[in-house]
Amino acid sequence: MKLNQVQNYDEMSRQAASILISQVRQNPSSTLGLATGGTPLGIYACMVADHRENATSYAQVSTVNLDEYVGLKESDSQSYHFYMQRNLFSHIDIPRDATHIPNGMSPDLLAECRRYDDLLNSLNGVDIQLLGIGANGHIGFNEPGTSFQARTHIVELTETTRAANGRYFPSLQDVPHKAITMGIASIMESRHILLLASGTNKAEAVYALFCDEVSEQNPSSILKKHANVTVIADEAALILAKQKGCVEHPRKTS
Ligand code: GLP
Repeated sequence: MKLNQVQNYDEMSRQAASILISQVRQNPSSTLGLATGGTPLGIYACMVADHRENATSYAQVSTVNLDEYVGLKESDSQSYHFYMQRNLFSHIDIPRDATHIPNGMSPDLLAECRRYDDLLNSLNGVDIQLLGIGANGHIGFNEPGTSFQARTHIVELTETTRAANGRYFPSLQDVPHKAITMGIASIMESRHILLLASGTNKAEAVYALFCDEVSEQNPSSILKKHANVTVIADEAALILAKQKGCVEHPRKTS
């Protein structure tokens, strides 16, 4: 894994956005794998600003999102459908039918998992997959213990994940117990993976990512087996990994 050490959230966001924007400029019909949560908000803001200022076009881009809660309507302000519209899609020129997010409202969730896998197979591969990281090392909603062979599936969210994501909901009770997520095997098929981490609340997860063995108990650890992963992490997120001496790379500027 390549590590880009940055000072803070803003630098992380600018750097990641610039990688995505370059990808789209070089290949206007790129497929981007997108993520939700607090981490990518700054990236999407940079992409929207760049679209306004430099007219980078997404007219031929396709997107696939990692995950969605089960049981939230698209119109629910906590759904990832709503998040993507509010923070990115409604501000750029991407056609609505080129954006893909698992449907957590499907009456047949297993069929929805198969539909999403078929869709992923039809897209000729994801050029860049954005990933945040959960405090317990989850990627997408692949919680600890998930098989590395998993494709799109329904997950029971751990209480730590529900508690962490509860900050976006009116109360913990409102956080869904289930989600539908792209599987680790599909994530690993992306040509380039960009994992972002900012803040001390990610320090344990980043420490485990760099310092621990590859294990299904730490979903993010599988990324060590991918040939083209860029981790962009800030000082706060790297604090433990640095203290333990498993991050040796000098600070990179770009
Ligand atoms: C959720 C998402 C993940 C995300 C994680 C971290 O569980 N399913 O894709 O990486 O939260 O979220 P945040 O960026 O808000 O810390």
